Amino acid sequence: MSDPIDTPAAAPATATTTGPAPDLRARAAGLDATDGLAGLRARFALPEGVVYLDGNSLGALPAGVPDALADVARRQWGELLIRSWDESAWWTAPERIGDRLAPLVGAAPGQVVVGDSTSVNLFKALVGAARLAGPGRTRLLVDAATFPTDGYIAESAARMTGLTVTPVDPSHAAAAFDADTAVVLLNHVDYRTGRLHDLPALTRAARAAGAVTVWDLCHSAGALPVDLDAHGVDLAVGCTYKYLNGGPGAPAYLYIAERHQQDFDSPLPGWNGHAEPFAMTPGFVPAEGARRGRVGTPDILSMLALEAALDAWAGVGIADVRAKSLALTDFFLECVAAYVPAGRVESVTPAAHAERGSQVSLRTDDARAVMAELISRGVVGDFRAPDVLRFGFTPLYVGFADAERAARTLGHIFG
Ligand SMILES: Cc1ncc(COP(=O)(O)O)c(C=O)c1O
Repeated sequence: MSDPIDTPAAAPATATTTGPAPDLRARAAGLDATDGLAGLRARFALPEGVVYLDGNSLGALPAGVPDALADVARRQWGELLIRSWDESAWWTAPERIGDRLAPLVGAAPGQVVVGDSTSVNLFKALVGAARLAGPGRTRLLVDAATFPTDGYIAESAARMTGLTVTPVDPSHAAAAFDADTAVVLLNHVDYRTGRLHDLPALTRAARAAGAVTVWDLCHSAGALPVDLDAHGVDLAVGCTYKYLNGGPGAPAYLYIAERHQQDFDSPLPGWNGHAEPFAMTPGFVPAEGARRGRVGTPDILSMLALEAALDAWAGVGIADVRAKSLALTDFFLECVAAYVPAGRVESVTPAAHAERGSQVSLRTDDARAVMAELISRGVVGDFRAPDVLRFGFTPLYVGFADAERAARTLGHIFG
């Protein structure tokens, strides 16, 4: 499958046309029939009759997870008990699963460690980044539209490290990078609008200014190529419960580029990140590699659910996932334009492929009630205050007929 990232969108981003619906159902069926990824849906346990467009919030259940979890609980925990820390390789799960996840974000092995929440990893990354930047720089630049937790954690990290937070518009952030900039924290995809930011160019510009970059990949990992190593990203964090389908509260991850690992000084130096955890010595000596990003005892049940969930990616190329994601969101916008009366919704997601993540956000009056009605009719997206309907397209289990039905149902609600 070719990767059309840079081609302009075929559909208008704003739904303005009505009139006789073209035969979109037949088009959807044809697109599903030729979709090389369509068979992947069988790797997930999805309820019958539901169109699930909220995988950008909580990914669907991969079919192998319940049995894997039962084995972890019954055999590994119930029978082997404490022996499982070694015999079931529980102890090394954070690095092992980090290495399994690494190709999905374009990282070579040894740079990703899984554990804790995204918020906690942001804290480690931001304070670690400020320490890497060293003295003499005063500003921590933060995506002005960021998911709130990033802003809260950045404020605290800045206070602890003597920096001042400066909000920046990510689309024009490069103009703000200067010799005073210590750290730059940006979201790869905006959680509200679905806008994709230019990670390669922004990382290049930040590094040219001598700043340390921290990227939040929550809304891009598993949906599109990230290529952390190729673009020279310094540090990154992300969650695994969205496009990676790790389950509710699944552990997050921290990426520490190899060139920084020796100097990465975690503000949470727990015993799991110690070079010799079982030496039980009073002084902290950081472990080699990304393992120094660990803190305390890993949440094994969630972590091993995530490991089983990653089986759903066997043989899947992220470029193919991206191509299907763009085709799905193009088609959904086209269907919305055909089915929804003019002027009732407006897309706040960029039309240009190079600026679009894997969700479509539609602004409308009374968005909360409209989403509740959609859900009652079997189309599950979500609502973000004050007026945004979000529809996430996870190419592993969403098809073109789902996109058509979601838009048609939206049209009926406004009809
Ligand atoms: C962009 C972004 N960053 C951070 C978070 C918070 O992650 P956590 O609850 O794992 O700390 C979310 C949660 O949805 C998010 O969308």
